[in-house]
Amino acid sequence: MIKKLNKIAKDTNLYLFKFIKKQKTTDLIRPMKYGLFSRGKKIRSKIIIDVGKIFNIKYQTLIQIGAAVECIHAYSLIHDDLPCMDNDLMRRGKPSTHKKFGESTAILAGNSLLTIAFEILCQKNLNIDNQIKIKLVKLLSECSGHEGIAGGQYSDLNFEGKKVPISKIINMQIKKTGKLFSFCCMAPAVISKKKKYTKKFDKIGSNIGLLFQIADDLIDYNGNTKKVGKKTKKDFKKGKATLISLLGPQNTILYGNKLKYKIFSELKYFGNKAKDLKSTISYILERNK
Ligand code: IPE
Ligand code: IPE
Ligand code: MG
Ligand code: MG
Ligand code: MG
Repeated sequence: MIKKLNKIAKDTNLYLFKFIKKQKTTDLIRPMKYGLFSRGKKIRSKIIIDVGKIFNIKYQTLIQIGAAVECIHAYSLIHDDLPCMDNDLMRRGKPSTHKKFGESTAILAGNSLLTIAFEILCQKNLNIDNQIKIKLVKLLSECSGHEGIAGGQYSDLNFEGKKVPISKIINMQIKKTGKLFSFCCMAPAVISKKKKYTKKFDKIGSNIGLLFQIADDLIDYNGNTKKVGKKTKKDFKKGKATLISLLGPQNTILYGNKLKYKIFSELKYFGNKAKDLKSTISYILERNK
């Protein structure tokens, strides 16, 4: 699993490196690369490869779509760390982008990574029909905007210091984190034109994303700053509404395990083809960074 993840990370970075190299050099390139190429796990790209295996999609096509997703993810982290959001000074073991380059530069570098994602999906050398490219652009926009990451981030900040019911916490986490995983799970189904599976993988993706955020919250609760590469034990201080704040850590672990088996049961139909995806899902819950 780790070996495959590292290979996918390397191939994704290589694609992004070449893509950015072909663009004009501007003053924003350095902060953009800083936010994009630090030691991110590239777990979203791994999910795309794993689901792509179920639908027999070409590896290089999947890497290219993963590259677009990783740009959106990097943008969301740059903005998430800003003083007006989580106000975090460390990311992936280094000073966060705004700490290194200043706030306005970090905002603009984030915006530019967001738009680059759509440039990547519109590339001529992305070997899929234009109709499918349009579908992917639409889906990725929906997953990133007010119905997805941005809307979820709004609720995350709005809920700070408030007692929020579990259904609202889950809904917020599905938006801020789950929707991008939904895109990763839907994209291969869309490319293979298997309409009836797109909806199924939308749901599977939001559950994987929810599981990912639950694990991230547990890492914040238990983890070691040095190992994790970002400051831990900060959600409690900020009064973040998480499952841990509502149920406590033990019940959150139980919730996560139940959710994992729920996703596994939704994957049963795909048999051995879903083997890689299942091992990525197990890794998501067991990881310590
Ligand atoms: C962190 O995501 C932000 C969340 C959505 C919880 P990752 O843990 O995937 O971050 P990197 O890319 O590996 O640093
Ligand atoms: C971030 O969630 C989710 C995003 C969409 C950026 P967190 O705020 O918990 O992520 P970390 O812990 O700072 O990486
Ligand atoms: Mg946050
Ligand atoms: Mg944060
Ligand atoms: Mg966190």
